Amino acid sequence: MAFELSPLPYPDTALAPAISAETLSFHHGKHHQAYVDKTNAAIEGTDHADKSLEEVIAAARGSNQGLFNNSAQTWNHGFYWHSMAAETTAPSDDLVAKINDAFGSVDDLKAKLKDRGAGHFASGWVWLAEKGGKLSIEETHDADTLADSDFNPLLVLDVWEHAYYLDHQNKRPSYLDAVVENKLNWAFASENLARGTVWKYA
Ligand code: FE2
Repeated sequence: MAFELSPLPYPDTALAPAISAETLSFHHGKHHQAYVDKTNAAIEGTDHADKSLEEVIAAARGSNQGLFNNSAQTWNHGFYWHSMAAETTAPSDDLVAKINDAFGSVDDLKAKLKDRGAGHFASGWVWLAEKGGKLSIEETHDADTLADSDFNPLLVLDVWEHAYYLDHQNKRPSYLDAVVENKLNWAFASENLARGTVWKYA
């Protein structure tokens, strides 16, 4: 069954001024759509056609780089849209306790997410993730993903230039500051932590 472009969970104006409707029109409507289309074209008529997206990613990792890149990018972007909200939301008490254990405070975590995002070389993703009850910040390069890893991803930041160039030009720290301070969906992170299993693309 073909995968679909996951709809944005908010209007395309909801993330402004951190992320404009124009950026979302390209990032969601063109970039994410292209990853979905290329994934579907690659799996049509193959043994992968009836697999979940997470199963396709795991099967393609290390054996089919083109399919891996497109399927992982399909998943990463679906997860990224949910990692943000029109108004930032509140973390659960359990998530706050784990953040305090790992990073000192929510503000310390925000500062570290911005630092890691700004310092990430070239394209990739910066994740808040959980493994064995402990939180950490993880980075993946290019299309790489935590979807098929032994981490449970809680939130992600897209640090590809296409995520911010129209709004912030080359100033990645400006984009990260705007999103981390105003648009992170901590309720989504809390749901992912409480469920304890990796979010599914739908
Ligand atoms: Fe992206």
